[in-house]
Amino acid sequence: MAMEVRKLGEPLLAEVVGLDVTKLADPEVWADVNQAFLDNNVLVFRGQMMTAAEMVQFAGQFGPLEPHITKKYNHPDFEELIVMSNVDAEGKIDALGAKRGTRWHTDMCYREVPSKGTMLHTLEIPDEGGDTLFANMYLALEAMPAALKSRIEGRHATFRYGGRKAVGQVRLEAEDQDADLIAHPIMRPHPETGRLSVYVNPAHTVGIVGMDDDEALPLLEEIYDWCSRPEFQARHQWQLGDTVIWDNRCTWHKGTGENPLRQARRFLRATVGDATATASIAA
Ligand SMILES: [Fe+2]
Repeated sequence: MAMEVRKLGEPLLAEVVGLDVTKLADPEVWADVNQAFLDNNVLVFRGQMMTAAEMVQFAGQFGPLEPHITKKYNHPDFEELIVMSNVDAEGKIDALGAKRGTRWHTDMCYREVPSKGTMLHTLEIPDEGGDTLFANMYLALEAMPAALKSRIEGRHATFRYGGRKAVGQVRLEAEDQDADLIAHPIMRPHPETGRLSVYVNPAHTVGIVGMDDDEALPLLEEIYDWCSRPEFQARHQWQLGDTVIWDNRCTWHKGTGENPLRQARRFLRATVGDATATASIAA
């Protein structure tokens, strides 16, 4: 069966059908997968369970895998993977784990070279709820009112894991919590497509370079309000056997946190580094 890409959401999100995720793909096929990733920003592969080793192989085709900033959740056998869960070792719902990632954000934006993508593979999902929302930051920028856009043009923002609220548990988990703030353009060019998108996000952005917080924070709030508009979003409802990868360079995502039946939600997660980033952004 030839590979096929089916759009699931208008602003972003598509399903790839007819690709065996447990096998290495031929280079021509892989070029199509990567193009579908660039075109749709979030890809879903359905109905195929993977072992941890298969996930490392599959995710590794997108680029070099990076360990996450928090070590606590590392997979016991593969340091490239973390186990993302809302249940603790005794199988009880872990309130902090359940809340993690429920604000709009971009993974690894607090790194000097932000990552290419994040891949999640289902291990356990609740019968109801637990959806993930995605938002297209290319579209958010392209549709942004000129008056707002003119206030961010040429500006850089600062980032840190956990953003301004990087205190308490979030700070304790981050090993480089005292690292310097990292700056990126608010309108950042995508290293592979060259398209600009809004790069700041409510979870990890701290401020704007060369602007007092009195001015910067309300401006950031205005940007977040704009970027949170429903027309830029698509929702993914998880099924067991799903693998999803999103482009961290042009999208936001968040968990809805809804889990009315209080059931386990567990994923294997891999973060794919961006081998193209440094050179393109410096250019
Ligand atoms: Fe995330």
